[in-house]
Amino acid sequence: MATTVLFILIASFFVSAHSLLEPTDQAFTSVVISRQGLDFLKDLLTDKAISSIIPLKLPKIEKSVRIPFVGSVHMVLSNTKIYEIDVSESYVKPGDTGIVIIVSGATCNLSMNWYYSYSTWLVPVEISDTGSASVQVEGLEVGLTLGLENHEGTLKLSLMECGCYVRDISIKLDGGASWLYQGMINAFEDQIGSAVENAITKKLKEGILKLDSFLQALPKEIPVDDNASLNVTFVKDPSLSNSSIGFEINGLFTERKRDLVRKYQSANTQPSVFCPDSSKMLGIALDEAVFNSASSLYYNATFMRWIVDKIPDQSLLNTAGWRFIIPQLYKKYPNDAMNLNISFSSPPAIRIAENDIDATVNVDLIIDVLDSSEVIPVACISLVIRASGLVKIAGNNLAGSVKLNDFTMSLKWSNIGNLRLYLIQPVMWTIIQTVFMPYANSHLGKGFPLPIIHGFTLHSALIVCSDSRIIVCGDVAYKESNNFSQLLTHLVDKRRLPLLDV
Ligand SMILES: *[C@@H]1O[C@H](CO)[C@@H](O)[C@H](O)[C@H]1NC(C)=O
Ligand SMILES: *[C@@H]1O[C@H](CO)[C@@H](O)[C@H](O)[C@H]1NC(C)=O
Ligand SMILES: *[C@@H]1O[C@H](CO)[C@@H](O)[C@H](O)[C@H]1NC(C)=O
Ligand SMILES: *[C@@H]1O[C@H](CO)[C@@H](O)[C@H](O)[C@H]1NC(C)=O
Ligand SMILES: *[C@@H]1O[C@H](CO)[C@@H](O)[C@H](O)[C@H]1NC(C)=O
Ligand SMILES: *[C@@H]1O[C@H](CO)[C@@H](O)[C@H](O)[C@H]1NC(C)=O
Ligand SMILES: *[C@@H]1O[C@H](CO)[C@@H](O)[C@H](O)[C@H]1NC(C)=O
Repeated sequence: MATTVLFILIASFFVSAHSLLEPTDQAFTSVVISRQGLDFLKDLLTDKAISSIIPLKLPKIEKSVRIPFVGSVHMVLSNTKIYEIDVSESYVKPGDTGIVIIVSGATCNLSMNWYYSYSTWLVPVEISDTGSASVQVEGLEVGLTLGLENHEGTLKLSLMECGCYVRDISIKLDGGASWLYQGMINAFEDQIGSAVENAITKKLKEGILKLDSFLQALPKEIPVDDNASLNVTFVKDPSLSNSSIGFEINGLFTERKRDLVRKYQSANTQPSVFCPDSSKMLGIALDEAVFNSASSLYYNATFMRWIVDKIPDQSLLNTAGWRFIIPQLYKKYPNDAMNLNISFSSPPAIRIAENDIDATVNVDLIIDVLDSSEVIPVACISLVIRASGLVKIAGNNLAGSVKLNDFTMSLKWSNIGNLRLYLIQPVMWTIIQTVFMPYANSHLGKGFPLPIIHGFTLHSALIVCSDSRIIVCGDVAYKESNNFSQLLTHLVDKRRLPLLDV
């Protein structure tokens, strides 16, 4: 079933007419579900579909037949139920015409009651008999062709073809004078066969409709925190190759509840996913622009500024601690408390290269003296900090950390005359290492969610940094009790079977 798509996410900001006109349909994140991933989803959905289909009741079958010397015989098969379906073989194959799913060689077991009545000229009373029967359907084949396309930023799933075919049926009667009627009952084979075919086809059609509503209801944004969301709008039709399905999503950070129009240029027209280990189910490629959109967003949210009034070496927050480094500071404000007002002077720039992530951060550090509750800015030092990044997977999040490579500094302004920067350098190094880096890492440690549907968890993931993108390759596991399983449970609504009686 349609399934595969279920991987992709999400959310619900309207695609306004205006944004449709903008050339913003560039993809910065690509997701590829490999053959292994498709098989995993196919098996998951097949299991779920079967458990939601059975027990499946079939309509009552009645027939009157004239039999020579006996007369008119009335035969009824009732209470017919499919109570087991076994699938021995199935496969999924994306292709030009859609996603084809074939279940072949399935068997299903049915139970039913049979009833016969007739009267003959030999015996003038009506003769009737009744019993139960078990029916085995062999060689059940089900084929589906699903269309998957981008419809205004969400995925639209459609059933293009659906067929169900029963090859062979064997019926075994119990109770009554069953030996007598076995032969006649066999005349029902075709009718039972088409009842099974029709019932399963109808269930599958209902199931696909539900799956489609589920996909269309997926949000176009995933919240990251109070201020930021990831835009997971689909920007193109999924690409179906003969062994995988690829999805292109916008992938950039956006401000929550507000429309930001930003222009990002991707180095590549679209990030391509290449997993070194081809046995992984899923690959997600994130362009450098995704990280830079996060950086720009948090920068604008004035999130990247803070006042430091506690540091591991607290003596650096008193002018006495700077006595030998900036003597004039101590002279002017002896033994006064200090704080550091740190702000980013531009959004951190992130560059991803082969096996390497670099961040360049421009920071203004203002030294404040606290003189009897008055805050007096005395000097501002501009820092250019170069750090290298590491990324890791934390649950379904991509998290990171940075470590300091080097930094340069310059005096931006001063109210206390010139500063000897070479003396300040070691102090700055300490402040960056003990204040700045831990602060950055406490934020990066949480990470942001990868576009994976709730209920699926990423495991055995590996991360590759290549030219201007990060690629996450991994397997997924599925855990019950969430929206997705609710959907599957209701894939076939057992309460609503208007056409089927008994
Ligand atoms: C999300 O991405 C889509 C497709 O690129 C774009 O049209 C839309 O404007 C974006 N939404 C926001 C809030 O940026
Ligand atoms: C269903 O039928 C198969 C034969 O087609 C048989 O092996 C199996 O035991 C049956 N299952 C049940 C639960 O009756
Ligand atoms: C899939 O397509 C590639 C070329 O695009 C071809 O080399 C390969 O044999 C195909 N595989 C199957 C299973 O059809
Ligand atoms: C951040 O602010 C600058 C200048 O105000 C603006 O050009 C840019 O679009 C903003 N970026 C985001 C992500 O809001
Ligand atoms: C959201 O932004 C506001 C200021 O714009 C800030 O106070 C708050 O801490 C931010 N929250 C998060 C979770 O980033
Ligand atoms: C910190 O410095 C900025 C200028 O970089 C200034 O606008 C802000 O008011 C200062 N904050 C405090 C609390 O001194
Ligand atoms: C998924 O679950 C959440 C809370 O558990 C609920 O708010 C949301 O409406 C559900 N979504 C769907 C599509 O059922």
